[in-house]
Amino acid sequence: MQIGKPAPPDEIIDRDNEVESILKRLQSKISYNIAVTGHRRIGKSSILHKVLHILSRDEKSVVVYFDVQKNIGEPRTFLTSLQAAIFNAFVKKLGRFGKTKARASKIASSITDVLSSKRIKGIGIQINPGAIPEDFSVMPRIEFEQKEAAYAKIFEMVFSTANAIAEKNRVIIILDEFQEIMQLKRYRGLKNILDLFRGIIQERHKNVSFVICGSRVHLLRTILSDGRSSLFSHFVELSVGEMDEKNSILLFNEYLAARGLGQNSKIAKEAFELVGGQPYYLMVLAEAWEPKKQIADTFVDSLTLSVGALRLYSEYVLAEDVAAAQGGPMLRSILAVLARSEGGLGYAGIARSLGAQASELVPYVSELIKTDLLIKTKSGYAIRDRIIRQYLRLNLD
Ligand SMILES: Nc1ncnc2c1ncn2[C@@H]1O[C@H](COP(=O)(O)OP(=O)(O)OP(=O)(O)O)[C@@H](O)[C@H]1O
Ligand SMILES: [Mg+2]
Repeated sequence: MQIGKPAPPDEIIDRDNEVESILKRLQSKISYNIAVTGHRRIGKSSILHKVLHILSRDEKSVVVYFDVQKNIGEPRTFLTSLQAAIFNAFVKKLGRFGKTKARASKIASSITDVLSSKRIKGIGIQINPGAIPEDFSVMPRIEFEQKEAAYAKIFEMVFSTANAIAEKNRVIIILDEFQEIMQLKRYRGLKNILDLFRGIIQERHKNVSFVICGSRVHLLRTILSDGRSSLFSHFVELSVGEMDEKNSILLFNEYLAARGLGQNSKIAKEAFELVGGQPYYLMVLAEAWEPKKQIADTFVDSLTLSVGALRLYSEYVLAEDVAAAQGGPMLRSILAVLARSEGGLGYAGIARSLGAQASELVPYVSELIKTDLLIKTKSGYAIRDRIIRQYLRLNLD
């Protein structure tokens, strides 16, 4: 168990319903596309890794896992990495063919066959020897043109290699942190990246399914439901929420046991009452708790001490989200007011606390909603994440 990294498939706790529901759709005759949404650290990637693990056992399924955020950058490297991920997922299915040399040439010819079956030009492969003879890597060679406008064509071509593989296999392309694809917009040729992606979804082979995933829930939903691109009609949304009490206690206990502290269901239950069924928060508390200490004190320390994990995490989230929103210091002032309120406030209430006009606040509140920092409640607006709210409360005064 490692905090921050997706849980390994054999260590993941619960999430059977989520995993099943994704698998069921992917294995159905209708080739569904799935959008997995869920706030930061709720366990999306852990679920996807489990799905990947189960599907990889099926000989006919080629499963590509690609983290868009980790690979985002200049289009040439992005497209080359994506192509490498597609080729390598395919190579995994080719099985063993005796000696290394035979295997390398079988791989080369299988990929060449795939490419020529769809008359794909400008994409080739290169097999690089590794440190030991059994080990070599498959790298795509893409002929990029000088002009940026040509990126669109290559973007389409990379996905058409997946269509070519799908002639004989089921292909599943998992794109984690999908919303980051919007960063490619700044390159000429990729300005209309969502239209391009919609084209890819529409033209995909019937054996190809996409699973896209993202922690910026509001943004992802906006991307998907954007009137022009209307990607949502092509996706089924699966929203990942908190874990239930039983499994939260299990997770907390497993972590305590891994630290050599045995199990303590009383403390585990108290931890659940403090932070809810959010796996990352539970792990942080299980990591910081010391025997004989009150878990409530561990919680406050984590939120207030300069090295406290929940404090560092909250500061990171706030810095990132406030930077993503438009509005400067006013955004923080609104958050501060809402952090102190129970259950949230309407425009009039926020305005009164800030000595501002309610109408002035509208654009700021809407920016904070876009970043998922705020949600609309019955009584107005509130800070969505209870840890961020607690952090603000404890550190403002
Ligand atoms: N079901 C689970 N069982 C055990 N550990 C879990 C589970 N779900 C999440 N975790 C742990 O919680 C943390 C966050 O999980 P994960 O990376 O899967 O979430 P995420 O939603 O993909 O997060 P991010 O927004 O950072 O991409 C990790 O440390 C992971 O090991
Ligand atoms: Mg993730």
